[in-house]
Amino acid sequence: MSKSITLHEFILLNQQDFLFATGELTSLLNDIVLSAKIISRDVRRAGLTDHVLGAQGMVNVQGEAQQKLDLLADQTLIRAFESSGVVCGIASEENDSFVAFQTETSKHGKYVVLFDPLDGSSNIDVNVSIGTIFSIYSRRSPLGTVATMDDMLQPGTEQVAAGYVLYGSSTMLVYTTGNGVNGFTLDPSIGEFCLSHPNMRMPENGRLYAMNEGNINECEMGLVAYIKYCQSRENETGMPYSGRYIGSLVADFHRSLIKGGIYVYPAVPAAPEGRLRLLYECNPLAFIAEQSGGLATTGRERIMEIQPTTLHQRVPYYIGSKSMVEKAMSFLT
Ligand code: AHG
Ligand code: MN
Ligand code: MN
Repeated sequence: MSKSITLHEFILLNQQDFLFATGELTSLLNDIVLSAKIISRDVRRAGLTDHVLGAQGMVNVQGEAQQKLDLLADQTLIRAFESSGVVCGIASEENDSFVAFQTETSKHGKYVVLFDPLDGSSNIDVNVSIGTIFSIYSRRSPLGTVATMDDMLQPGTEQVAAGYVLYGSSTMLVYTTGNGVNGFTLDPSIGEFCLSHPNMRMPENGRLYAMNEGNINECEMGLVAYIKYCQSRENETGMPYSGRYIGSLVADFHRSLIKGGIYVYPAVPAAPEGRLRLLYECNPLAFIAEQSGGLATTGRERIMEIQPTTLHQRVPYYIGSKSMVEKAMSFLT
């Protein structure tokens, strides 16, 4: 049996991809890997211990009920970044504002990390796949100072690396540093992520569509027409596409990445800007989509080119196989 490459080995082997690499990004990625193992362990014990399952009894700044696991994952990541020595600040979906780390070492950190600690939290209590999403940028403020809002509000095109961890039937970590996309599966018997999906390419086309169709009567006419097209025999396959919707963006996206497909979360009256967050969800997955040959837009413009104006900004989201996203966009006026 050939020896599998662990994620640590893979990160080291590819360190030379970065111009003037100093090992700092390598060290940051390894901190994320460790956090992913800790969160994965906590997720796998949900239901067995009291402090993992259920609601925390608080709502976040966006008015959503926080689950215990949301906060556990959030704290795990913040702790890892604070002690990493290479991160000067973070922003997370679960915190009202960004956090600028105050130690001298952190003030000299080159990077900021933006993340959704637990994506798909409504699925925690029912044992359905959930995930963690992260996005890394180089800071804009000078080294040696505290992180600023300006460091956080950068367009997705500036991402240095992005990725997600999917706690599904197995735990997987998928990431990009702008040189393609690679996927690693956690082997629980040795506690290591091993390269299982090298150089992932999203199929150019697919026959799976994902959206919360409970909202269909509230959507713009162009999208209603596109969904009708997906369900008809008029599409290029001559057969209705299959509908699939998990309600965990990471899991729905991962399926598109492997099998081909489209995921749509449009603007609806209850979420006039869309539901998904530009900085924590849309940009990191858009980077992975583009790096694997797919596309991510608001239906009208490229996600990664949007200049963010606020931390928790939401946008309509069309992501997946290139031909499918282009087709959906052609229906919108
Ligand atoms: P989060 O759990 O981080 O708040 O994100 C939930 C997101 C996303 O994962 C999912 O696709 C979508 O919200 C589900 O929204 P609906 O329940 O409106 O379908
Ligand atoms: Mn989310
Ligand atoms: Mn979340």
